[in-house]
Amino acid sequence: MATALVTGGTSGIGAAFARALAARGTNLVLVARNTERLAAMAAELSERYAVQVETLAADLANREDVDRVVARLTDAARPVDLLVNNAGFGVHSRLTDEDTSAHEHAMDVMCRAVLILGAAAGRTMRERGKGTIINVSSTAGFVAMGSYSAIKAWVTAYSESLAVELAGTGVTVTALCPGWVETEFHQRAGINAGSIPRQLWLDADQLVADCLRDAARGKVISIPSNRYKVLMTLARHAPRGAIRAVSRRLTSSRR
Ligand SMILES: NC(=O)c1ccc[n+]([C@@H]2O[C@H](COP(=O)([O-])OP(=O)(O)OC[C@H]3O[C@@H](n4cnc5c(N)ncnc54)[C@H](OP(=O)(O)O)[C@@H]3O)[C@@H](O)[C@H]2O)c1
Repeated sequence: MATALVTGGTSGIGAAFARALAARGTNLVLVARNTERLAAMAAELSERYAVQVETLAADLANREDVDRVVARLTDAARPVDLLVNNAGFGVHSRLTDEDTSAHEHAMDVMCRAVLILGAAAGRTMRERGKGTIINVSSTAGFVAMGSYSAIKAWVTAYSESLAVELAGTGVTVTALCPGWVETEFHQRAGINAGSIPRQLWLDADQLVADCLRDAARGKVISIPSNRYKVLMTLARHAPRGAIRAVSRRLTSSRR
């Protein structure tokens, strides 16, 4: 039986990964901060799918906690076949705020931890000659909506670079770039998503199924749904001035 380690596996997209993988018979290591939700998720999945579910309570903004996750990822006696670097959150602060701690915290969780866990998984999987790394990025990385866009642009570029470094080793890397997904994300970040048209919302279970299929095919960038594939093709080819104008409108609509 394969084992997957999913950060942020207690809610939203991470929970959808955990359920989809458990349904395939994959054992799980779930990482998040809230121990009650970790225990509830582990109980639900092990009972429903008869898989082993370990929980690892860790705050990925904390370097020592990240190192405990590294220890689990590199434990030769209990190999991890799939890493899903998913934990994250929206950032609703202005880049010009005097207090930049929200941006720094976001970079710690969504860049620094992703880099450290990706390095640990990458070298361990390379030694075994197989493995899969999925980094949850965002279509926000293609536009200009604050530090969240900058962070997710980094996650996508980092994933492509890691894929280049690991090419031919048996280890694949996929950046998952979803658009808007119905999870706790917007409420937690205090983002008003009420003006987003219904057609732009994605279903977490469907996008996870699509992403796992893309990862199995070795696809490096996974953009779920045809409508977002078209939108992101337009975004990649549009003049950057037009992208900034759209970004301005989207940013002001959610304040
Ligand atoms: N929802 C969207 O529209 C959307 C779109 C594109 C990309 N994404 C990306 O998808 C990923 C998952 O987001 P989601 O929408 O599923 O959000 P969510 O429902 O709020 O889930 C976030 C998960 O991350 C965990 N987490 C947050 N901070 C953490 C920390 N410091 N240390 C460890 N775990 C932490 C949370 O658990 P605890 O609170 O217990 O730690 C929770 O399990 C994020 O990377 C996000 O940027 C989301």
